[in-house]
Amino acid sequence: MRVLVTGATGFVGSHVVDRLAARECPTVILLRQTSSRRFLEAHHGRLEVHEGSLQDPATLDAAVAGVTHVVHCAGLTRALHRTDFDAVNHRGTVRLLDALRRHATGLERFVLVSSLAAHGPASNTLPARETDPPRPVSAYGSSKLHAEEAVRTQCPSGFVILRPPAVYGPRDLEFLRLFRAAQTGLVPSIGGGRQELTLVYAPDLAEALVHCLTHPAAAGKTYHVGAPEVVTAANLAREIGAVLGRRPRFLPIPAPLVPLVCQIAALGARCRRRPSLLAHDKHRELLALGWVADTTRLEAETGFSCPTRLRPGLEHTAAWYRAHRWIP
Ligand SMILES: NC(=O)c1ccc[n+]([C@@H]2O[C@H](COP(=O)([O-])OP(=O)(O)OC[C@H]3O[C@@H](n4cnc5c(N)ncnc54)[C@H](OP(=O)(O)O)[C@@H]3O)[C@@H](O)[C@H]2O)c1
Repeated sequence: MRVLVTGATGFVGSHVVDRLAARECPTVILLRQTSSRRFLEAHHGRLEVHEGSLQDPATLDAAVAGVTHVVHCAGLTRALHRTDFDAVNHRGTVRLLDALRRHATGLERFVLVSSLAAHGPASNTLPARETDPPRPVSAYGSSKLHAEEAVRTQCPSGFVILRPPAVYGPRDLEFLRLFRAAQTGLVPSIGGGRQELTLVYAPDLAEALVHCLTHPAAAGKTYHVGAPEVVTAANLAREIGAVLGRRPRFLPIPAPLVPLVCQIAALGARCRRRPSLLAHDKHRELLALGWVADTTRLEAETGFSCPTRLRPGLEHTAAWYRAHRWIP
């Protein structure tokens, strides 16, 4: 077994590398010249490193040569321009599949890290099922759905598609904002904080991805993955506050203002030339009733369920943030 992990320098990908290293699995990673290796320091000298980009097909050939399994984590979750999502998440996946077809003749399985955004919003009363017709509400979600379609039709080997909801855990920069807000005691709240959420703890997601690399029943399947608890945005902020020893107050953001806030954030991101999560059509995701996934299919068919409950997952995350001085 020789596993290629794309996006290994990122939040999710670095946890996948940790899981593979724990299994002493020979691992190849694809990273860009500009990629920070700060999350991979523990594996120094034990990974086969290839420089390349999903946007530069010539650089992919060497990285894929001889690999038998792929966990494709690389992708954009924030972008300066809406079209960047498709260029990397969809067309970048197509380029990777092309390279695999030409240079990885022994490929056995390709696991795509998609997103619940490819399905679209769903509430606790009608959680997202893998068999539902997908209705993404953002350019990001559409790009992940198009990547899924490319994998289903063009993958030269067996494949598995996993759709995580919001991922939290050590190394995450997005939940960090919420931790910092909770620490200041004031958390922005949209729609009274009623949005319902399924979440997944990053090490659990990484374990699920590695599990799906070899599980026979997973071949050709799409799975939602996440913890079984559903939490509202307000209760999530309260839980984070409790972990930090705070009782945060809420700063209500009226729903009609949310698109404007996202537009201003997009403009600011373009001026700074640094992509922001709050941009483009993100307001559609923020204003959705919920992002709740039915995760029972993964357990029923492969025996995998996420072991980490919300409170201990948040406690570990806070401890990691503190240890790395990301929060005081
Ligand atoms: N975080 C979440 O809540 C969440 C939820 C659902 C799904 N996902 C999916 O999980 C995957 C990983 O997300 P993440 O949160 O770990 O994001 P992240 O921390 O931003 O990591 C993204 C990774 O992709 C790499 N990458 C980006 N563009 C690339 C390109 N053109 N060529 C090669 N590599 C490229 C990045 O490399 P650099 O280090 O060079 O930037 C980085 O290693 C994505 O596919 C995302 O859609 C994430």
